[in-house]
Amino acid sequence: MCGIVGYVGRSEAAPILLDGLRRLEYRGYDSAGIAIVNGDRIETRKCAGRIANLGSLMAENPPAGHFGISHTRWATHGKPTDQNAHPHFDATGKLALVHNGVIENYQALKDQLIRDGDKNFSSDTDTEVLAHLIGKLYEDSATTDTRPDGSAPANGGAPSYSKKARLVDAVRAALRQVIGTYGIALVHRDIPDFIVGARRGSPLVLGVGKNENFLASDVSAIVAHTRDAVYLNDFDVVAVERDRFEISSVAGEAGSYELRKVEFGDTDIKKGDYPHFMLKEIFEQSGSVRDALRGRLSHEECTAKLGGLNMSAAQLRDVGRVVLTGCGTALHAAMVGEYLIEALAQIPTEVEYASEFRHRNSPMTRDTLVFAISQSGETADTLGALRESKRKGYRTLGICNNVASTIARESDGGVYMHAGPEIGVAATKSFTSQVTILTAIGLLLGRMRHLSPAQGTGIIETLEALPGQIDQVLKLSDQTKAIAKKYASVNGMLFFGRQFNFPVALEAALKMKEITYLFAEGHPSAELKHGIIALVRSDLPSVFIAPDDAVFSKNVNNIEQVRARKGPVIAVTSGEGVGKLKKIADDVIEIPVAPECVTPILSVIPLQLLAYHLAVELGLDVDKPRNLAKSVTVE
Ligand code: AGP
Repeated sequence: MCGIVGYVGRSEAAPILLDGLRRLEYRGYDSAGIAIVNGDRIETRKCAGRIANLGSLMAENPPAGHFGISHTRWATHGKPTDQNAHPHFDATGKLALVHNGVIENYQALKDQLIRDGDKNFSSDTDTEVLAHLIGKLYEDSATTDTRPDGSAPANGGAPSYSKKARLVDAVRAALRQVIGTYGIALVHRDIPDFIVGARRGSPLVLGVGKNENFLASDVSAIVAHTRDAVYLNDFDVVAVERDRFEISSVAGEAGSYELRKVEFGDTDIKKGDYPHFMLKEIFEQSGSVRDALRGRLSHEECTAKLGGLNMSAAQLRDVGRVVLTGCGTALHAAMVGEYLIEALAQIPTEVEYASEFRHRNSPMTRDTLVFAISQSGETADTLGALRESKRKGYRTLGICNNVASTIARESDGGVYMHAGPEIGVAATKSFTSQVTILTAIGLLLGRMRHLSPAQGTGIIETLEALPGQIDQVLKLSDQTKAIAKKYASVNGMLFFGRQFNFPVALEAALKMKEITYLFAEGHPSAELKHGIIALVRSDLPSVFIAPDDAVFSKNVNNIEQVRARKGPVIAVTSGEGVGKLKKIADDVIEIPVAPECVTPILSVIPLQLLAYHLAVELGLDVDKPRNLAKSVTVE
């Protein structure tokens, strides 16, 4: 939700900031803006719409200067207009600020500022209030020679109480009044080559270069310039100059940091020869599943090795209940995980919407193990669920893709997906990586209990065969494209599956909704007759995920029920199911035969492709669907 980039160095800031924003566009794309300090003025360009619009504006009238801030927005407060686009300014117009997050008490702060005589608000945003508050505290401290909190500075006041220190103090004092979340970056016209950043609840990373430094919501914005990064913690305030930076806390204490190497490079975040990131990421899945398993399977012990869980054999054996939590696609992966862990380890497992789990008092047993599943590792609801579980004293683990993300750092341990950057807003490879890891977790927990070495070896071999089978499934792209063309004029689609493939029906429907904007629903196949069948008609296709498994014949019954009511049927099946379904379905998509616990990894891919090709057929922006953002850091 919103992307921030800041730069201070010797190069022209404009191209660096604009390029960084393009790489963060997945975080929000309803308006964008830039503020660069050029001598004694701040050059600002901002407008509603995509970053391409901002690019045109900047091309007409290029801003100059060597330090500045920029923002791509996903609106929370105020419509996506030119006026509401960031950066926002303080009342003097000398301080510019960009913000990712929500200032929940902005109205109370604004009322107080207005009572104090500030009438210069020009937007509907919560961010502008924060800019005004910091600006006021900064200006007040200049006239009183006191710190913004009223105390005297350590050195007794001006002149050695520098503008830089005053600005940092003003930021701290303002943030102490804020209720809500923020990742911010700000510049002041009177303080050359100086940016202040801070975070609470929204990610912010410092990129450390040579004679230049960067701030960004995500390393992908800066990885073309440096791979040395400091992932800031909540309540960190960072003062950034060309050749130095200083981290402290909102409370004013000196901070510590760890410099880390970013795992991926610039080429990993480019589309290459693919027309869209989503298609690239779909096609990366044999590699990403292989990477999710790399070094994690032991033929010798017939089990999975997941050292990152930070749990002893005895602790793993004592797990009596598992809770899997996440949002959207990650929640659907969790639902597959429930089937997997119960089947492989026979441990009662529950799936909880993170947004619900965090606010309810779910009864938990002492031996419950909680997994927070999140590609970004920054989803506010999932983070909230993790914190609530930790607060109650439960061991809470993360399954994340983004290294050093907040969820990864705050959990007691976990498993990284190693799927590489996922830029397409519609999650694809993260789903198959999550399911792969959940299978490994099921195997590990199962082998602590009743699974025999032979059964363990069987599962390992099944997992090792997956990348090759995924390559086979990817060959279905042309077939799914033809099916997409055939159904390009429909108004919606229904998706059905049973057991392990019921969550795939939900995930396939989510993909369809997100990028084609068609009405789409996923259901357990058997629910059809309990109400959904009323929707069936000749112009509403039903997609059945019906591999040749223990419930195949039950799925066939449901397909017949749809056919009897003239509903078109697209079937995803395998093995002997192919011949049988060709007789009754309109279109049959054949996936390889595999044990039922891993079929979701194979069956979801043609449905990702179906949604993709249908969206392309409809001329829609696949990678940036309307109203969505990749990383949902607001509640
Ligand atoms: C999936 O296509 C979505 N864009 C969305 O549902 C996503 O899966 C959800 O917001 C969770 O994100 P996370 O995995 O980064 O936590």
